[in-house]
Amino acid sequence: MSFTIAIDGPAAAGKGTISRAVAAHFGFAHLDTGLLYRAVGAEMLAGTEPVAAARALRAEDLDAAALRSPEVAQAASKVAAIGDVRAALVDFQRAFAARAGGAVLDGRDIGTVICPDAAAKLFVTASAEVRAERRYRELLEAGADTNFAAVLADVRERDARDMGRVDAPLRAAADAVELDTSAMDIDEAVAAAIAVVETAMERG
Ligand code: DC
Repeated sequence: MSFTIAIDGPAAAGKGTISRAVAAHFGFAHLDTGLLYRAVGAEMLAGTEPVAAARALRAEDLDAAALRSPEVAQAASKVAAIGDVRAALVDFQRAFAARAGGAVLDGRDIGTVICPDAAAKLFVTASAEVRAERRYRELLEAGADTNFAAVLADVRERDARDMGRVDAPLRAAADAVELDTSAMDIDEAVAAAIAVVETAMERG
């Protein structure tokens, strides 16, 4: 039997860390769907037409380490606004969600569009300032030359684009449980997410 957990939310809200921890806790597979859009964004930066890149995408192209830069993130957010790019990526995500043994998918439209029937749905948020602060610290630790104002502007720009697009905009599904991590550390956020999933499991 498959059990799908949908985890959506804006950039740097803690979705990735929470999703990995939830998947590990329940022994489920995990797909960071942002990597699909990042891989297409990287292809666009290299000169490939985005819809063609999305149609040709394979699992082997999803090398997380190569796709983490702010330039690729911005390109991902741009290609993600193209309806035909999103359409080309639907089957891959749904096939992953349907795998036996359970799956966690994190992204922007998992609970609303990709897996509207997911057994558990979480919408992870935090204020733009808190998210920018977390991302800023990560970038500094990675040795990047940046400043807080630039990171905050970047977070706000991506939020506006992800929420404002016509096709599958970022928003919480009506039946998602909202988790605001602004005042939580990562252990608290993971524990809260696991509790939401356990409640959904008990409900059957
Ligand atoms: O989660 P992330 O920061 O790696 O995502 C990169 C971009 O991809 C993000 O700005 C919006 C887009 N995206 C999307 O539109 N739908 C998803 N399911 C996942 C990501």
